[in-house]
Parts: sequence; structure tokens; C-alpha cells
Amino acid sequence: MIIRTRDLTDEWMITEMIYESYKPEDTFAIGERIGREAEPGMLCTLTGDLGVGKTVLTQGIAKGLGIKECVNSPTFTIVQVYESGRLPLYHLDVYRIGDIEEMEETGYEDYFFGEGLCIVEWADLIRELIPEEHTQIIIEKDLEKGFDYRKISVRQPGKGNRLLS
Ligand SMILES: Nc1ncnc2c1ncn2[C@@H]1O[C@H](COP(=O)(O)OP(=O)(O)OP(=O)(O)O)[C@@H](O)[C@H]1O
Ligand SMILES: [Mg+2]
Repeated sequence: MIIRTRDLTDEWMITEMIYESYKPEDTFAIGERIGREAEPGMLCTLTGDLGVGKTVLTQGIAKGLGIKECVNSPTFTIVQVYESGRLPLYHLDVYRIGDIEEMEETGYEDYFFGEGLCIVEWADLIRELIPEEHTQIIIEKDLEKGFDYRKISVRQPGKGNRLLS
């Protein structure tokens, strides 16, 4: 599943791990692994096109954290908090956010800087609010490799990749 890891730059010490997924279950399993390795206070942005598998990955992450509840896309609420796992999971989906002021009302800082693992779907829409130190998860399709194929890149600042060592 893992194809390569590399330092993107020496200066920033960003390490990147790339996974290949050929079906939803692969994406779920990758998420599960991330959930098992996640550390308190970790902030992950999750980007990729509509329907690419962001929520599937998040469901795997929840399982990896030992969360019992069912995790779905928070359609009408921006934030969902799950407390039944090893760490709290703060699942934000900012797709429907109108403007940055609306984010203030969600109390997002409690989640970005909280004790749990914070996952932000559609983080590109609120880029200016994301602290520099965060983990980026990018999901991309490659139709040449099949309709269900997904490339999942995990980029993390710091020495080595704590999620994926
Ligand atoms: N390799 C794959 N990994 C994940 N999902 C896949 C894969 N192949 C097919 N799928 C399908 O793609 C869909 C992904 O849906 P999901 O809700 O996770 O996407 P999303 O990125 O969260 O969408 P949205 O942008 O609407 O929030 C599911 O129906 C899933 O079955
Ligand atoms: Mg989603």
C-alpha cells in the first residue's frame, strides 16, 4: 500500500508518505492506521474533490481511535465531536461555510488547538485559519489506474513522519 516516503525540503523537514488505494476498504484501512498512530493535539487537513473518499478515510480514522459511534459527513453542522475513543475526534467539514466570520461561530479554535485529533474536510476553503504546523492529507484520483483508484498523500512537518514511522 505504501509506495514511497521522502523529505520534500530540508528546511521545513516535511516528510511525505504516499499510499495507494484501489477500493473504499483500502482507504478505510489507511485511515485506521492514521487513527491508531495519531497523537493528542494533531491537526489534519483533508483535501480532495467531491466524493473522492474524505469521509471514508475519516471513518477509518475513527475506527483506529476506537470510536464506537457511526461517523458521517456533518452535513448541517460544521463540527462533530466523538469522545468514545482513545482521543477525542473533532470532525469538521467546512464545505458549506459561507465566509471566515462564520467559522468564528463554530468555536473552531477549541478544536484546532484541543487535546484530540482534529480532521478538517475542505480545509482549502479556510486556508488562512490553518496554523502552519499541521498534517496535510490529500486524496486524488487517477482514472488511468481505475475508477476506484485513489492516491493518498500524507505530509507532515518535523523530523520523520510521526504518523507513519
Ligand atoms: N478507493 C476508494 N476510496 C474511498 N472511497 C472510494 C474508493 N473507491 C470508490 N469510493 C467511493 O467513493 C465515495 C467516497 O465518498 P465520501 O463521502 O467518502 O467522499 P468525500 O470526499 O467525503 O465527499 P464530499 O466531498 O462530498 O464530502 C464512496 O461512495 C466510496 O464507496
Ligand atoms: Mg465528506
